[in-house]
Amino acid sequence: MESEYFFSKSENRGLELISRDDLQIYSVGISTAGIAEIRMAKSQPKRKIIASTIDVDGAAYSKDLILSHGVENQVIIKVEDVREKLPYESKSFDFVYARLVLHYLAKPELEKALHELFRILKPSGKLFVVVRGKDPYLMSSKNIQYDENTALTTIISERGTYCRYFHTESTIRNHLENAHFQIQSLHSYEETLCYDYQRKKPATAPSLLLEVFATKMN
Ligand SMILES: C[S@@+](CC[C@H](N)C(=O)[O-])C[C@H]1O[C@@H](n2cnc3c(N)ncnc32)[C@H](O)[C@@H]1O
Repeated sequence: MESEYFFSKSENRGLELISRDDLQIYSVGISTAGIAEIRMAKSQPKRKIIASTIDVDGAAYSKDLILSHGVENQVIIKVEDVREKLPYESKSFDFVYARLVLHYLAKPELEKALHELFRILKPSGKLFVVVRGKDPYLMSSKNIQYDENTALTTIISERGTYCRYFHTESTIRNHLENAHFQIQSLHSYEETLCYDYQRKKPATAPSLLLEVFATKMN
């Protein structure tokens, strides 16, 4: 199914880190239309994936795609906000997958969310995070505002206004370590993202991504 959608290096790397024994997965901010979650389900029929989003229309679109792939018993979509207390028992999940979502959160929200993700992971559970990096091209935009309290940067461009916490290796590392995660690897690389939810329209320039793989030690 990968060939039907725009190739994503970070998605492939995240999926490779999930082992066959990782049966309970929490995916924060459902992958574009549910593509990653469908791949997680198809590669291990015993696996259950709960995928969250705050986008009601996106959830409906993803549900249809998941149905068309026949994995609706394995992938459950929830409209749920990672900034809130999560409705799961502590130590429920083997793996938390959080690609391109945590950079929407302001600093205090991110701190709270990471503590919740730590809580719902089982001992020895794994966390995969990809966030946008502070790339020099973006930071040189003319209409840009940085808020020290939230660490959010607002950029006004011809494509509209958007607001993200653009990380450095040290900001994401510090947040994860403060939430008691043990960092196993941290990589920075460029990837061309897509403008659309269906992942058919690649951006004209690559983005800097920071990828972290971390664990919850016993
Ligand atoms: C860039 S998209 C896709 C990310 C997806 N994990 C992927 O790999 O393609 C970001 C997603 O995060 C969701 N999202 C944004 N803020 C969120 C929040 N506070 N809680 C849960 N999901 C959120 C959006 O609704 C969207 O589904």
